[in-house]
Amino acid sequence: MGVQNLMDKGSFILPEAASSVAAEVDVLFYVILWGSVGLFIAMIGLGVFFLFKYKRTASNRVAIKHVTDNHALEIGWTVVPLIIVMIIFAWGYRDYLKLIVPPVDAQEIRVVGKKWLWVFEYPQDGVKVLNELVVPVGQPIKLLMTSTDVIHSFYLPNFRIKKDVLPNKYTRIWFYPEKEGEYQIFCTEYCGDGHSGMLSVLKVVSRVEYEEWLKSSSSDNDIPLLELGESVYKSKNCNTCHSIDGSRLVGPSWKGLFGIKRQFADGSVGDVDEPYLNESILNPAAKVVSGYQAVMPSYSGLLSEREIAGVIEYIKSLRGATK
Ligand code: CUA
Repeated sequence: MGVQNLMDKGSFILPEAASSVAAEVDVLFYVILWGSVGLFIAMIGLGVFFLFKYKRTASNRVAIKHVTDNHALEIGWTVVPLIIVMIIFAWGYRDYLKLIVPPVDAQEIRVVGKKWLWVFEYPQDGVKVLNELVVPVGQPIKLLMTSTDVIHSFYLPNFRIKKDVLPNKYTRIWFYPEKEGEYQIFCTEYCGDGHSGMLSVLKVVSRVEYEEWLKSSSSDNDIPLLELGESVYKSKNCNTCHSIDGSRLVGPSWKGLFGIKRQFADGSVGDVDEPYLNESILNPAAKVVSGYQAVMPSYSGLLSEREIAGVIEYIKSLRGATK
């Protein structure tokens, strides 16, 4: 996919921050991290120091003085940490508000998570794409997210934003893409077999490239069906569940699939032909191959007529010698 490794740029702990909000989150994170490290060293250091300083020795067998209380010390160790945590609270709350309140001019994009892909829909432009979120640089983006099956979680490490995506409910996050580039999108809530393959890319491009992309995405293009099918196989994550080399994944392999007879979960037998493949793409639960789970989402409305035809052509091209 050409997404740069998250650790190519950035620090040992955090990947490159791609927005001003992310950079602010990092400052607070490091303050808390190094503050905790300092406190840890001070406490353990003092403990070890006292251990040796007040060690019982032959010449020092009993405690000379028994201290019962010290008000100045007690008030000090209560008030000072209270002030520190209140500062961190106020700081964190201020950054939290920045993270959850989108600017008024943010462009809304709808996100649907399903096993195991992400759907991005641009309501004003009538564009719907899978696994590729393209946005113009310098434009605040607000994502309105929901799920059609289980709980997923949308995670953009470079922007330090992460939010659960829930069925029957909308959640939202926003981000401000400052730099052009490609950034990894993860699903970060375990959602079944294909969870780790539920990857997408955020592409931040110039305004001109964005307009061109919108145009090319909304119109059917004229690449050959077979090529279209092959690109759909990869870009729409069919490859998460269907191999093309005969190996068994979540779903049946596509190698040598076309033209054979299959037995279904209900005991019936049928041919793998065009109508069957078409039905299985639009209504996967209708004929589940015996020995597999009915976990595939419907691609109805997600693939164009032409893309479905392309996928079928691609499966046909994988007939090969093996069954
Ligand atoms: Cu979707 Cu994990």
